[in-house]
Amino acid sequence: MNKKNILCIGAGYVGGPTMAVIAKKCPDYRVTVVDINPERISAWNSSRLPIYEPGLDEIVAETRGKNLFFSTDIEGAIRDNDIIFVSVNTPTKAFGIGAGMAADLRYWEKTARQILENARSPKIVIEKSTLPVKTALAMERILASAEGGVEFEVLSNPEFLAEGSAIRDLEYPDRVLIGSRDTDRGRRARDTLVEIYSRWVPREKIITTNIWSSELSKLVANAFLAQRVSSINAVSALCEKTEADVTEVARAVGLDSRIGGRFLNASVGFGGSCFKKDILNLVYLCRFYGLDEVADYWERVVKINVYQQERFIEKMLSAMFNTLAGKRICLFGFAFKADTGDTRESPAIYIAKRLLEEQAEVVVTDPRALENARADLAGVGGSVQFVEDPYEAAVGAHAVCVMTEWDLYRRLDYGRIWEEMVKPAFLFDGRNILDHRRCFEMGFNVYAIGKPPLTHF
Ligand code: UDX
Ligand code: ADP
Repeated sequence: MNKKNILCIGAGYVGGPTMAVIAKKCPDYRVTVVDINPERISAWNSSRLPIYEPGLDEIVAETRGKNLFFSTDIEGAIRDNDIIFVSVNTPTKAFGIGAGMAADLRYWEKTARQILENARSPKIVIEKSTLPVKTALAMERILASAEGGVEFEVLSNPEFLAEGSAIRDLEYPDRVLIGSRDTDRGRRARDTLVEIYSRWVPREKIITTNIWSSELSKLVANAFLAQRVSSINAVSALCEKTEADVTEVARAVGLDSRIGGRFLNASVGFGGSCFKKDILNLVYLCRFYGLDEVADYWERVVKINVYQQERFIEKMLSAMFNTLAGKRICLFGFAFKADTGDTRESPAIYIAKRLLEEQAEVVVTDPRALENARADLAGVGGSVQFVEDPYEAAVGAHAVCVMTEWDLYRRLDYGRIWEEMVKPAFLFDGRNILDHRRCFEMGFNVYAIGKPPLTHF
């Protein structure tokens, strides 16, 4: 007999790893993960999981079939489980009011209705996906709409894991946040969730708040993180004009303990499924409440991110004699960050599309993200190749651009790469991970982010 039965609806980047870690930490709980996508579920049940995340394979191998189960039987699972996490996707709305800004809550609402239709006993429904503030209210209203129905309690428990370090983030979180209603039932539901996390998270790291603070904190945390990246990226533009070096500036600034040194790596831009979406969501909320100045403030974070990517293209154009047409440009990395195969909102997508507009021939290499890269660039037109081996990808290239900070790219033999490239050979380091002086001495013309270029002209 299992102590608790836990269900998660949505087997994506958040639901899959989170439930795998709960199953590992709570061997006496039975954890079920369901999804509408049967291919996703069969991948979770195979030896090739649908997402790449360091450490995930091992945990799934240890728990799957014992106390972790993946299934497509959503209705049956809702009946059998009284603690239900919801981590379905909430993309940005692509149509109608709020298009391009607000969250598209159709998957969410569908799930709420499905829970309502199939529940036969009281349920705790936990928002795991990032949602606009007050979604819990909408959820409660849907769940309360059946007459003489079952009791539901909605909690907010946003997930703060970052891709590439998801397992570590889940096992050793900075904090776990649980928002609940301040009623007897709300507090009881909250305590049930606290009990689950207490199995491995120190009690002082489990913080409880009212439900709206919890929902808003998730959006604000991502907005602050993205703002740091946009701030340092804005500074990188100024560094390039003044011969300051952004790495030195970031270090000097970050050593102030009030500021802190993390998340100050200037880059070609931030990507990922959360930052842009969550900020736009925040912006939409602010506008909804008539707070236009606040909305403008946060919107700038996203605008600087687009500016930074466009600046990268402009830099390439001006360095390479104002034309990229017919030139072979090799992108080292396509994932939005290292240690993931995820390419959602990756700056590499923007750069690749802009290069194709400039009629360059694009070659993409990435150790984990080529499949997603293919899908992202399908139907875009122009000349694109996907090559697994970075040495092979760079043969005959006019320029190599580092798009993702994969460790692999730090360790390549750039002398060998230079030999096989068209001269003058250009290197654009969009992540500032290479030894620029060494590459310059090998013969490259090197352009990094926020640093004086090293050129042979
Ligand atoms: C983020 C949040 O970190 C996480 O807490 C939340 O749950 C989901 O959103 P994630 O999108 O997985 O996680 O990646 P993150 O490590 O935050 O990086 C986001 C983007 O910013 C990446 O493209 C990354 O390369 C970029 N970045 C990050 C920089 O360009 N510079 C930095 O200093 C840090
Ligand atoms: P995240 O990064 O937030 O985890 P993903 O897109 O990786 O987002 O995962 C969301 C998952 O939710 C997808 O696998 C999708 O198929 C699933 N999903 C969406 N709507 C439903 C639904 N109504 N019922 C079950 N699963 C759903």
